[in-house]
Amino acid sequence: MNQCTRPRLAKLALVVSVLAGMGCLLPAPSPQAQDIPHEQFVRSLADAIDQASLTPRERLGLHLFFDVNLSEPAGLACASCHDPRRAFTGNNNTLIGVALGSRSDQFGTRDAPTIMYLATTPRFSRHGIVEQDGKRLPAGGHFWDGRADTLEEQAKQPFFNPVEMNNTDTASLIAKVAKSVYAAEFRKVWGDKSFNHPETALDAVAASIAAFERTRVFQPFSSKFDYVMRGQAAFTEQEQRGLSLFNIRQKGNCAQCHTVDAASRDPQKSLFTDFSFRALGLPRSTRIPNNADPAFIDLGLCERVPVAGAKLPVAVTKPTVTDPATCGLFKTPTLRNIAITAPYMHNGLFDTLRDAVAFYATRDTDPARWYAEGKRFNDLSEKYHANVDVDTPPYQRRPQQRAQLTDAEIDDIVAFLYTLTDGYTPPGSMRPTAETTVTPPQSPNPYPSQPASSPVSPREY
Ligand code: HEC
Ligand code: HEC
Repeated sequence: MNQCTRPRLAKLALVVSVLAGMGCLLPAPSPQAQDIPHEQFVRSLADAIDQASLTPRERLGLHLFFDVNLSEPAGLACASCHDPRRAFTGNNNTLIGVALGSRSDQFGTRDAPTIMYLATTPRFSRHGIVEQDGKRLPAGGHFWDGRADTLEEQAKQPFFNPVEMNNTDTASLIAKVAKSVYAAEFRKVWGDKSFNHPETALDAVAASIAAFERTRVFQPFSSKFDYVMRGQAAFTEQEQRGLSLFNIRQKGNCAQCHTVDAASRDPQKSLFTDFSFRALGLPRSTRIPNNADPAFIDLGLCERVPVAGAKLPVAVTKPTVTDPATCGLFKTPTLRNIAITAPYMHNGLFDTLRDAVAFYATRDTDPARWYAEGKRFNDLSEKYHANVDVDTPPYQRRPQQRAQLTDAEIDDIVAFLYTLTDGYTPPGSMRPTAETTVTPPQSPNPYPSQPASSPVSPREY
């Protein structure tokens, strides 16, 4: 194993940061079918999750989520890019801000976001619930561009995406599931004939994964912030200052998009996103392989092609832009667990949380710090620059003005953001033994899917 080989075993975060420091930006080839240690490792991640309170359908979803044999070639599971120790992020361990697929030379173009706290994400709407300046903003849906309306629709996509799990058709994917060690469980949940029709079997696969994603494993509400909201812990002075700066309109104004209800004792009111789409005008990332081509620009929402009803596998064609006012807009992500989900932003540009926050503070006052040659919004063609938000604080500053936040204020906000990591142990209680950052589920799933029916009807959700 040379210095730059992908770290697969324990202490991953540490190894990643050491390697990052050594300039190892390209990952080694993806694991192959015979790569037993990786398979065992992914299994061990699954085993660290308390499965006792999962229903059979949810447990089946867990098996599918952690199965490295469902990619082409084998070796890549959902969990490879959505690692439970990193709040279900991880980019298959690359260090370039975007994920490596099942083939050793195929990279995606976006950072894998956390898939926690998605159970209540609304469907995509061009005129969503969020109003600004008398206009209703687009909001909702899954993916950075909101193209999947439900977790079920979303779950079918990675299996067939050529830069992710790369299966060529539904039948070959289902054949793999039918050969898996959990195939008997699958039949028990979805019926004896559930493998007979690939399309309905795929619906069952997606419904199982979505059911797992709606469990408490993915929304434990067990961060220090949640304990404070429930009156069971207290912020430090710095964390409290950070929360204020996060909320105050003339300071961070973060809460305008990253919704928090600090007056409520119910943490579910604070999902740290309003699901709205916005253009932040992020700098272009030079480490994304596709960006070597200046003609490649990720336009986000205006290239969104709804996947609902799309015939799988999806053809990857560049759609035509029908609504130019939505070019450059991406979905506001939750900030829960943000301390452990680096890198940040849709293009995985920032490796540290402090940089992500500092960008907000100085994008407009010190553009040279962020953009090559100081050219603002250099990841968007000029004709779309008007879409970038330059009025909403913290984005209302002009060059040469004071930064929106001082260095100390940035530190305070970062300190507050660190309280959003799940698995907090309040003072005076026993330390949990589980090694994951995810608190094991203790009570029934708060967001249950519809009861299992078999055989699956194609439009059961
Ligand atoms: C090769 C890495 C990779 C694999 C494998 C992968 N994902 Fe992802 N996932 C991503 C990336 C990158 C995105 C963001 C893509 C986008 O927005 O266009 C994403 C987005 C998502 C989202 C949307 C989050 C949101 O914003 O609402 C969910 C849910 C998700 N993945 C679940 C899964 C499931 C389930 C599997 C397995 C069937 C899977 N992923 C396999 C990389 C991966
Ligand atoms: C006008 C709405 C808006 C405001 C105000 C706002 N954000 Fe964001 N935030 C977004 C959007 C949209 C993204 C995703 C942008 C992208 O990747 O293109 C984002 C992304 C982030 C990310 C990266 C998340 C990830 O998973 O990669 C962090 C961290 C963050 N914001 C923190 C903050 C902080 C701290 C503040 C206040 C100083 C703030 N935001 C203010 C809309 C906003």
